[in-house]
Amino acid sequence: MRLVVFGATGKSGVLVVKQALADGHTVTVFARNPSKLQVGHPSLTVVRGELTDATGIANVVRERDAVISLLGPTGESSGDELAVGMRSIIAAMRTHKVKRLIATSTPSAADPADRFQLSFFLAVRVIKLLQRSAYVNLVQSAEAVRNSGLDWTLVRLPMLTDQESTPPPASGYVGSSGIKLFSLSRNVLSDFLISQLQGSVWIHKAPVISNRG
Ligand SMILES: NC(=O)c1ccc[n+]([C@@H]2O[C@H](COP(=O)([O-])OP(=O)(O)OC[C@H]3O[C@@H](n4cnc5c(N)ncnc54)[C@H](OP(=O)(O)O)[C@@H]3O)[C@@H](O)[C@H]2O)c1
Repeated sequence: MRLVVFGATGKSGVLVVKQALADGHTVTVFARNPSKLQVGHPSLTVVRGELTDATGIANVVRERDAVISLLGPTGESSGDELAVGMRSIIAAMRTHKVKRLIATSTPSAADPADRFQLSFFLAVRVIKLLQRSAYVNLVQSAEAVRNSGLDWTLVRLPMLTDQESTPPPASGYVGSSGIKLFSLSRNVLSDFLISQLQGSVWIHKAPVISNRG
């Protein structure tokens, strides 16, 4: 497949790019800091750009089969750039008839299938209070994905870790048995995101995934 990856310069994004290339996909990365990627491959194209550049985004999305976004707030993020960027990605996908969108998010972007869980409820209250801008961007981005009209999957993530674990992850919703809201290995995340390019089980859904056991 011909993929575009946003958020490829983050810790999980690098793994996704490497795995996609190893699986034989052709990958285009759109990033503000391309030098952070440190991956070279004949099937990889890296384009420098900002999320405010709707034309640049449209140019990389055109004639591709799917988009994976791992965009998320970092120390460098400010204002509403992440939500603006997600809206531009969606607009470009609709214009160029690229249907499949797989985007990471967090359980703070609630889903009707979630059940009440006290520890999680309190954690979201703290995030809302201490990281207001990140929270608003996440919720607005998730809303844009849900209303996109595309074949979307919103993959909601707990705390990520670099410690390797065995895929596949447990999948469900907040409050589902087997879902651990505080642990997911980045290698398991990468495997799950790439596997979504083939399956349709989670299309139009927003699962929470976590390490098993
Ligand atoms: N870390 C966690 O525990 C955790 C928990 C729940 C959900 N998540 C979500 O999981 C995903 C992957 O997490 P991660 O920790 O591996 O990623 P990360 O290291 O935080 O990387 C985030 C990516 O988003 C990009 N980005 C952020 N703001 C941007 C902006 N304004 N313009 C352009 N690019 C921007 C970053 O680009 P630069 O490299 O240029 O900064 C980077 O590529 C993210 O969506 C994150 O929100 C993470």
